[in-house]
Amino acid sequence: MSFHASSASTDSSDSKQATLLIFGASGDLTSRKLIPALFSLYRNGFLADNALIVGVARRPKDDDSFRNEMRDDVLGNAPSAKATADWDRFQNLLHYVQVDLNSPSDYCALKERVEALEQERNLPGQRVVYLATSPALFLPSIENLNQAGMVPHEASKLRVVIEKPFGHDLISARELSANYARLLSEDQIYRIDHYLGKETVQNILLFRFGNAIFEPMFHRHHVDHIQITVAESQGMEGGRGGYYDTSGAMRDVLQNHVLQLACLVAMEPPSRFEAEYIRDEKLKVLQSLSSPLHATSVDDWAVAGQYAASSINGEPCKAYVNEERVPPDSRTETFVAMEARIDNWRWAGVPFYLRTGKRMPSRVTEIAIQFKLPPLNLFQTVECNETMCERVNARPNSLIFRIQPQESISLRFSTKRPGMQYQVEPVDMDFQFGEKFSEALPEAYERLLLDVIRGDSTLFTRSDELEAAWSFVDPVIQHWQRPEHQPELYQAGTWGPKQAHSLLRNTGREWRVPQKHLTAHEAGK
Ligand code: BG6
Repeated sequence: MSFHASSASTDSSDSKQATLLIFGASGDLTSRKLIPALFSLYRNGFLADNALIVGVARRPKDDDSFRNEMRDDVLGNAPSAKATADWDRFQNLLHYVQVDLNSPSDYCALKERVEALEQERNLPGQRVVYLATSPALFLPSIENLNQAGMVPHEASKLRVVIEKPFGHDLISARELSANYARLLSEDQIYRIDHYLGKETVQNILLFRFGNAIFEPMFHRHHVDHIQITVAESQGMEGGRGGYYDTSGAMRDVLQNHVLQLACLVAMEPPSRFEAEYIRDEKLKVLQSLSSPLHATSVDDWAVAGQYAASSINGEPCKAYVNEERVPPDSRTETFVAMEARIDNWRWAGVPFYLRTGKRMPSRVTEIAIQFKLPPLNLFQTVECNETMCERVNARPNSLIFRIQPQESISLRFSTKRPGMQYQVEPVDMDFQFGEKFSEALPEAYERLLLDVIRGDSTLFTRSDELEAAWSFVDPVIQHWQRPEHQPELYQAGTWGPKQAHSLLRNTGREWRVPQKHLTAHEAGK
C-alpha cells in the first residue's frame, strides 16, 4: 500500500537488504538522481549497511573509481562533516561491474559477481534492475539477463524499472509491452513517471479523499472547467535537442505527466488505497478522454506551437530550429494546448484545458479548478488598484494546486469589502508547504526508488494506462504529422501561440497567468 506515512521502522528488514543493479551507471541520470536518492534513503535508514548497489556500464572502471566519481557528483565541493561521514559508510554499498549490455557473454560474469557479493553480505537476493540506459537497450538487456538465468518470475526476486519513452505511439507501445510480457510479469515492471513521485502530486489524492468537504466539489455540478499547466522556462540546454526533436511536447510531457495529473484530479475514489484499485480508477479516466463535442477537426481542440527567437530579460534567445542538434526545418512542437473532455457521469460537459511548453515565461506546474459562478449575481464586484476602483464581472471561486515551485494549495473566494455597501472582493486562503513544514520535500526519485524496493507499484504506470494514454494522443500526433501541418510560432518567453488563447477565448474563458506566490517572508510579513 502506498501513500502511508513512511517511516524507516515500518520497512521490513528484507526490503532494506535490497540488491540494486543500475544499468547505464556512467550516465547522467545515475549521478544526478539515482545515487543521490539512494544515499538519502540510506541516511534515513531505508537501506541497511549490507545492501548492495552495483553500477553496470561499458566503460572500464573499478569499485574505487566508481565510488570516487559518485562521491564528487553527490557531495560536491564543500560537504558537511556529517555528510562526509555518512558517505564513507554508504560507499561500501557501491560496486561496479563492466558489462557491454549488448553482449550476452558479459552477463555471466555479472551474474557471478552479483551472486558472490550477495553471499558475502548475506543478502536474500531481492533484486531491482534499474534501466538507466538508452531505450534501445531496454529489451536487449532484459533478454540477456534472462539468458544468463537472472530473470526469476517472481516480483519478490526481481523488479525492473524502466524510464520513458514507453514507445512513441500506440502500436509501438503495445509491441514493447508484448515483448516485456514474454520475459516479465506485469508486477515485475515499474514504469517511472517522476511526476507521480512529487510530494505535491501525491497530496492531490489525500486532499480529495482525506477531506470530506472538498471531494463533492470535484463534480460537473460545481466545476466550470479545469486547467492543467506544465510550463518550463528552459529550452534545449545541454544538447537535448537531439532527443527532443524525435519526441516533441506531446510525447515528452503531455502524454505522460499532464495526463497523469488529469487522472488524479478526475478519478473516482478507489475503494481501497492500494495500487491496483488506484490504477483501475486512473485507467477509467484515461479511457474516458476524448475530443470536445463541438470539434470537427483536431485543429478545433489541439494546438501545436514552436518557439521562435526572442529575448528574455534582455538576453537573446534562439529559435527552436536554431538549437543544437535540431534540424533547421524541424516541425516538432515545443508547446501543446488542448481542450479535452472526460466522457463520464462526473465530468460530462466540463472542459479540461491542458497545456505544456518549453521557453515559457516561468517554470511552473499547476492545476487550477475553476468553479461555476453563483446562479444569481446579487453583489457588485469592485476591484481596486492603487489609483482607481472599477466594477467588474463577478469572479468565480478557484482552487489552485501549485505543484512546483513554491508548492501550495490556495482557494480563492469572495468576501465583503469593509464599508457601507455589499461589495465583493476576491481573497485567497493560502496553504504553503514551505511555511508549514520545515523539512524539505523529498525528491521524486527517492520516493519512487523506495517504492520499487518495497514492491509498491501505486506510483508507477500500468501497461493498460499507457495504452489508453497513447490511444488518446495518437490521432492528434498523426494529424500534426501531415505534410501540410506546421506548428504555430510563439515568441520564446511568452505563454504560447495565439491559437492556444483562442481555444479558451472562443468560449469566454481565459488561461490563468500563473502568479509567483510570495512566501510570508518575501512579502515582508
Ligand atoms: C521530463 C521531460 O520527463 O520532464 C523533460 O523529458 C522535462 O523535457 C521534465 O523538462 C520536467 O520535469 P520537472 O520535474 O522538471 O517538471
